[in-house]
Amino acid sequence: MKADLLIANGRVVTTRGFSQGPQLGSRLGEVEELSPGYVLISDGRILLVTGSFAEARSLSGSDTREIDARGRLVMPGYVDCHTHLSFAGWRENEFAMRLAGVPYLEILAAGGGILNTVRRTRAATEAELLDNTLAALDAMLLCGTTTVEAKSGYGLTTADELKQLRVLKEARCRHPLDVVPTFMGAHALPPEYSGNRAGYVRLVIEEMLPRVAEEGLAEFCDVFCEDKAFTLDESRAILSAGHGYKLGLRLHADEITPLGGAKLAAELGAVSAEHLIHASRAHLELMAKSGTVAVLLPATAFLLRSEKKAPVKDMLELGVPVAVATDFNPGTSPLVNMQLLQTFACIHYGLTPRQAFAASTINAAHALRRGATIGSLEAGKQADVLVLAAPSLEFIPYHLGVNLVHTVIKGGQIVVTKGALSYGEGGKTQTDPL
Ligand code: NIG
Ligand code: FE
Repeated sequence: MKADLLIANGRVVTTRGFSQGPQLGSRLGEVEELSPGYVLISDGRILLVTGSFAEARSLSGSDTREIDARGRLVMPGYVDCHTHLSFAGWRENEFAMRLAGVPYLEILAAGGGILNTVRRTRAATEAELLDNTLAALDAMLLCGTTTVEAKSGYGLTTADELKQLRVLKEARCRHPLDVVPTFMGAHALPPEYSGNRAGYVRLVIEEMLPRVAEEGLAEFCDVFCEDKAFTLDESRAILSAGHGYKLGLRLHADEITPLGGAKLAAELGAVSAEHLIHASRAHLELMAKSGTVAVLLPATAFLLRSEKKAPVKDMLELGVPVAVATDFNPGTSPLVNMQLLQTFACIHYGLTPRQAFAASTINAAHALRRGATIGSLEAGKQADVLVLAAPSLEFIPYHLGVNLVHTVIKGGQIVVTKGALSYGEGGKTQTDPL
């Protein structure tokens, strides 16, 4: 078999051999480098990754299109495994309020925060939400993200949660980026249920979840387990119901208050637990046993000026799988750029550039149960490949604030060329830039 696309003369960086399980403990950041390196692609998949020019030539023919990387960095596409992608309206006013000292949970309790976005998302039409979502997807793709997880949770009525999830489904059809949908009806208690928590939990379990499952709109179920959001018992009830509908489980756990979400995630065999700033060592031990991936969101911690940081050292020591993600949302982290996230992961959470890289690629793929198909450059995997104007992996977190992405290949198709979108009609952007 000959390749239809060859990326030649790159500095190829990738993990290999972790398709069946994430990189744990001291193995996090085990990255291979091939320089010069060659990536051969056929029919949307990786055919071969090699350092041998002769081998690369033997698998390419006159029909093989060639990209000369000229020493640039060649790496797997970023997997952003935690975002709240689809919403209406931004909240820069709350950013200013938080700078003036008002705590995030107080803004929520006063009807702002998540509820502010809920009001605007409810008022938005499906077409408006789709425009916003496609614009965010374009911005992510331009920065090198090739798979993104996306949660609902700004609807909080059955109709509005379904609206958000249908928009995500439509976006998936229209945009080259892979979107992995998560139902998060339990993101906040909507005002019409204040004083009737049990009623809302029942609505999520008895009405929303069955509809979401029936329409096949989500792969995962997530809950914001937090003071002023949902208690441990409510979270358990909702996630157990989600499990009954064969949804994978995730949990916003121990972010601002140590409620014991990490323990609950482990008990329920959740695929991931997110934030984990206040997770105890004993609870992390349980997560190591259950193989629950810790999805760390260092940009959120930074932007909320959290004095405490997630216990990354404990996680690595105990063998908890670690991934990082942007948490893209209008409140705590309006960040789409996984390159900039590398800087936050290194500076704020103390990862090395290689650890941050593995946590954003192969381990993030495992956080979405996709370790066998994406997250690394290995024969047989989906051809999601980036070429960056960077001489080394370390250059990415170091040279912060600049988009270094030159080329993005998604499923074997060149979708970003010279830093500009090149998918779709005439290579034009489908939407206005974000
Ligand atoms: O992960 N913590 C809960 N959810 C989001 C924030 C959502 C918002 O503020 O709109 C998070 O940070
Ligand atoms: Fe989140």
